[in-house]
Amino acid sequence: LPQCLGELFARPPRLNSDVTVQGWIKAVRVQKNIAFMDISDGTTYQNLMCVIPPELASNLKTGESIQIRGLWCESKGGKQKYELKIPKDYKISDEFDNCIKVIGTVPENYPLQKKFHTQQFLRTIPHLRWKTNVLSSILRFRSHVETSLIAFFNEKNFIKTNPPLITSSDCEGAGELFKIESTSNEKNPTEKFFGKDSYLTVSTQLHLEVLCMALSRVWTLSPCFRAEESSTNRHLSEFWMLEAEIAFINDVRQLTKFSELMIKHVVRTLLDDSSEIGKNLIESRRGRAVEEAIKIREKWNFLLSKDEWDCITYTEAIDILQKAEADGIVKFKFKPTWGASLQSEHEKWLAGEYFKSPVSVTDYPIELKPFYMKINNDKKTVACFDLLVPEIGELVGGSIREHDLFKLSNEMTRRNMKVDDLNWYIDLRSNGSVPHGGFGMGFERLLCYLGNIENIRDVIPFPRSAETLDC
Ligand code: 4AD
Ligand code: MG
Repeated sequence: LPQCLGELFARPPRLNSDVTVQGWIKAVRVQKNIAFMDISDGTTYQNLMCVIPPELASNLKTGESIQIRGLWCESKGGKQKYELKIPKDYKISDEFDNCIKVIGTVPENYPLQKKFHTQQFLRTIPHLRWKTNVLSSILRFRSHVETSLIAFFNEKNFIKTNPPLITSSDCEGAGELFKIESTSNEKNPTEKFFGKDSYLTVSTQLHLEVLCMALSRVWTLSPCFRAEESSTNRHLSEFWMLEAEIAFINDVRQLTKFSELMIKHVVRTLLDDSSEIGKNLIESRRGRAVEEAIKIREKWNFLLSKDEWDCITYTEAIDILQKAEADGIVKFKFKPTWGASLQSEHEKWLAGEYFKSPVSVTDYPIELKPFYMKINNDKKTVACFDLLVPEIGELVGGSIREHDLFKLSNEMTRRNMKVDDLNWYIDLRSNGSVPHGGFGMGFERLLCYLGNIENIRDVIPFPRSAETLDC
């Protein structure tokens, strides 16, 4: 492979040696006797500054892709440690007919000139927006967070696995499924491709449970699809969910503690200065706001500073919300009532204003949650939790699963569920069933939370949401 900037900055070559790099021009400044050009190839947040004779730069434009050959030098002054220099008398070797070769040109109206662009504007050019420093740093951030999660689960003896994306059941029972149709069936629309109705998965949990009953600890990071009508800055129609399923556990507190460990592990990698991960995200924002970078770092340190995050029951949460309203501390649009879902405004207030920290809420009323959750002894609530975080609200949702055949079947009957397509799920309970539980975390929501990124559409390469399918 040709050398990339990430490699060059991590292991700088000998000073004054010949170096050839490829990348895209971020900016060109031509002066009378000298010209400066910043180039980037996306492998690191750092641009490479090139110092070149002005006559070589006069036709170069921001956005063009180029190959450049010069001397790797120490940079005097300026922020960067190194620069690529083409001295006036630079001798070009035989294989080169020029020190700078334009690989791909840009039109006069190239939209990403060096100036501030709003994210809203950038979303109108979905095929070009990743070329900006802020957005490319988010994709590097995304990649690093995933790598950190892989390391965490490896260390905890989990097997990473790949459940199917096409299913015949609605795991969550929320009726937000995308139905699959085959174009080859257009002639005979009554014929179903799989012989039955099929959907894109909303959660891989039920299949993960199958694998968990053989491998004890399994996880996946997988696309999930939900036909959510609500167009908010934290919902997507196609998002990535991290799901873990763990055998031989029976207490929801084991799950809240484990998911806290997982998130803290990621934060620790971000704060590790020997890696460039956190620096990448913070540096990309330097141009925009120094305070922003400081805020992100403070948040990461804060997340680690607390030994154990708070954990309350749903009933306690309702009490806190009702009392706050009665005391005139806050006024909600929706009245907090026992038995009703926590609204996003409630979740954000609890985590953001009351606890000012991530907080787990456990033991929700049965009727608010899906069929598979273990019913508590009070017969009113289930052994589940939602991890709420400031700014976002719900980040993780999980539960202990009902592993008893009769209890599970009874609950499914009580809910009038069609069991045909879930016979395998029920049958698991009569083949060496064990207590188990797991959770799902919205990967994009984690990125928004840890990176202080407001809109979920900016942490996924090609966002899909109601009425948006642009690229
Ligand atoms: O709370 P949810 O619906 O839980 C489940 O699907 C469980 N079966 C998971 C499990 O136990 N294995 O979804 C889990 C998380 C939510 O907390 C949220 O972070 C994220 O998935 N999520 C979404 N993220 C982006 N866009 C959407 N439309 C999302 N819906 C859920
Ligand atoms: Mg949920």
